[in-house]
Amino acid sequence: MLAGNSTGKEFVVTSFGESHGKCVGVVIDGCPAGVPLSEKDIQPELDRRIPPQLKIVSGRIEKDKVEILSGVFNGFTTGAPISMTVANKEADSSDYEAIKDLPRPGHADYPARIKYGGFNDYRGGGRFSGRITVALIMAGAVAKKLLSPFNVDVLAYSEAIGNVKVGKSLSPEEIRKRTYETSVRCPDLAAAEAMEEAIVNARKEGDSLGGIIECLALNVPAGVGEPLFDALDADISKILLAVPAVKGVEFGAGFASAELKGSENNDAYRMKDGKVVASTNNAGGVLGGFSSGMPIVVRVAVKPTSSIAKEQRTVNLQNMEDAKIKVGGRHDPCVVPKAVPVVEAAVAITLADHIIRAGLIPKALKERK
Ligand SMILES: Cc1cc2nc3c(=O)[nH]c(=O)nc-3n(C[C@H](O)[C@H](O)[C@H](O)COP(=O)(O)O)c2cc1C
Repeated sequence: MLAGNSTGKEFVVTSFGESHGKCVGVVIDGCPAGVPLSEKDIQPELDRRIPPQLKIVSGRIEKDKVEILSGVFNGFTTGAPISMTVANKEADSSDYEAIKDLPRPGHADYPARIKYGGFNDYRGGGRFSGRITVALIMAGAVAKKLLSPFNVDVLAYSEAIGNVKVGKSLSPEEIRKRTYETSVRCPDLAAAEAMEEAIVNARKEGDSLGGIIECLALNVPAGVGEPLFDALDADISKILLAVPAVKGVEFGAGFASAELKGSENNDAYRMKDGKVVASTNNAGGVLGGFSSGMPIVVRVAVKPTSSIAKEQRTVNLQNMEDAKIKVGGRHDPCVVPKAVPVVEAAVAITLADHIIRAGLIPKALKERK
């Protein structure tokens, strides 16, 4: 029934679990043997998922602890499927009984009920909960290990929350150093403060905010990607649109390029230290579905959290009458901060898949031994 839970052609990531079930987990098939891997590589990525500042996140603070069940032996991947789980310990299903027949506007409740005939686990959003992104974080940690021989660095941060935007240009060093110093995952400290305030205010009003996450992938070798339908930008877009609450994806100049002339939008080439480089990066590091050798720059639009305390109109699916809903329970007034490491993981997973498909990773591993 729930077909569609796998991504990738060589590095195949399958996500499983529901928000209030026993656990959430992931199976990775196709990870080459010989990658040094232990829980210590995964846990720090999970620890970054939830900002510790209670005022901007839901009350569901999980001490997520990864368990590797298979595919790792003596500290290295074996080539067998890697399976990993995180137990759901903090689930509180009490708020969901009252609204099980009242689909939350903006959430997956109504279409999921139609598709699964009411058999789906609706507690906590079930399979459509942000908690499912734990699987992406775990697989992303493995993908990052695969990308490390190439010095590929994937860095995401909050570029905007509501109408508060980053106010300065940011170097990769700043993004690396500062992003996780702030509750909102924004390396521009002044903007971060204003973003936090905006989230706190929205929460006070029983409302929520969305935002924009930018992700850079540095040092991706040129020529990676499999056009036509597995174009690098197409595959990255697909995995990013699978992240709950993501409603838009753009690369480089993106939608703004529609207003530019060719002479403005083209990234002119020149030689630098014996290498071909582009003077600008309006393409966002992808041309013709291949990496261009320039940084991959992708931005996602994240919608405001749908579960809000403010009263909204809905319908009662038991008696099919109009109804009102105020969503209680533990919801993030803005999911952007938690989605930042998820976006990073999603991009890393797709890059790992494509770098294996380009035949680069097994060679790199052999060279390491
Ligand atoms: C990390 C993360 C946390 C989320 N937390 C919540 C939440 O607390 N409440 C909520 O209503 N939606 C939350 N969402 C968003 C919903 O899961 C999502 O809106 C819903 O599944 C409908 O899918 P769509 O918005 O992609 O169409 C979260 C999303 C992410 C990525």
